[in-house]
Amino acid sequence: MTATRPAPDGTRLGELWRILPEDAAANADGVLEIGGVAVTELAERFGTPLHVYDEAGLRRQIRRFVDGLRARWPNSDVLFASKSLPAVGMYRIAQEEGIAVDVAGGGELRMALAAGVDPDRLYFHGNAKTDVELRMALDVGIGTIIVDNDDELDRLERLLDRPQKLLLRVIPGVEATTHASQATGGLNSKFGLPIDQAMRAITRMQAHPLMVFEGVHLHIGSQILDTAQFAEAVAKISTVGTFGTYDVGGGLGVSYTYAEEAPSVESYLDAIVAAAQAHLPADARLLIEPGRAIVARAGVTLYRVTTVKRTGRTFVAVDGGLADQMDIALTQQRYEAIIADRLLEPWTETAQLVGRQCESGDLLVDGVRMPPARVGDLVVMPATGAYAYTMSNNYNGALKPAIVFAREGEARLVTRRETYHDLLATHAPAMADVLI
Ligand SMILES: Cc1ncc(COP(=O)(O)O)c(C=O)c1O
Repeated sequence: MTATRPAPDGTRLGELWRILPEDAAANADGVLEIGGVAVTELAERFGTPLHVYDEAGLRRQIRRFVDGLRARWPNSDVLFASKSLPAVGMYRIAQEEGIAVDVAGGGELRMALAAGVDPDRLYFHGNAKTDVELRMALDVGIGTIIVDNDDELDRLERLLDRPQKLLLRVIPGVEATTHASQATGGLNSKFGLPIDQAMRAITRMQAHPLMVFEGVHLHIGSQILDTAQFAEAVAKISTVGTFGTYDVGGGLGVSYTYAEEAPSVESYLDAIVAAAQAHLPADARLLIEPGRAIVARAGVTLYRVTTVKRTGRTFVAVDGGLADQMDIALTQQRYEAIIADRLLEPWTETAQLVGRQCESGDLLVDGVRMPPARVGDLVVMPATGAYAYTMSNNYNGALKPAIVFAREGEARLVTRRETYHDLLATHAPAMADVLI
């Protein structure tokens, strides 16, 4: 069946294609296809709610970062910030595409290793790493630890028994324009050390026989749409000193709505590399850590409408919600949504797209235009590939959704849906006499 990108009158579908995955199109029946697979088929085979990724688009986006950075600054590396999508299938893609991986905590470390990522390509983040996690990282031969604070240095002094590469996270003092919960580079940040304390910590590392201090790290936040702020951070970090490595973090924002216009990967790279050329040593290694900008657009969430209520306002309720789109509640980010199996019908109604969790704040999209919804319709929320699955939780006993990668007409399950058995498993101590 031929797939196209129609823009029917009475809809804004034409504008949505730039937010939907790169390999998304409509088939002749007006059903959305992701990676060449119709959402009707995906819902039937894998159930809903479901996280669906356009695998080819995801891989292309990784290559844009890797090739674009290498062309501008050859002594460089791209680290996938895996907190944005910590799924073994995704770590495997990172490994296959040859990018390094940033892990924040023992769980992400274990998943990366399970996917076969070379430990030497792992960078270990965290402002509160424990002895157990550091021991685990050292035991597997982790490539680089990004030290956050002096307590962590105390721990490493106790635990190190061979040389270990280290970077130090520094607070650059750049207040990024983003939601407060996503800004991490201002002077009051809980992450990293202010420049004066950082200098003392660097002296301490340089004096230690097993601490191989390589350079400094910064990260000013997430969903940042002004590339000048990345450049400002590069300039600030250069004042800490001359080192071999500068990791300038992640944070490039993406377009979630009709109105938002995120910078391209190319313009982002132009900005940071111009700043690096102006402020960093020419032979330094330059690292970046994109997460959201790699996975957000490639992923959509697929829901089925369970209830439609017209009580003055129209409430369209789906079979997921806050439990699988936590980031909306945390950041109040606006998203869009479409009825994905009725793409060609005019959008004649304004609805509140709501979830099934017991909170009025469980509002997925406030005032979305769509055809008059019916029970059983399939709803797609575009650009939900980052920070949705990873923050999914069991609120109201919700089961964490499955993840499917679709490519060239084939869909493969990479993370299965949680089951009630999984849900009960950790409660086994309370059910010693009951079979689960
Ligand atoms: C240290 C660090 N690096 C990279 C990232 C990735 O950020 P983003 O997903 O916005 O690119 C984060 C997330 O906030 C982070 O904390």
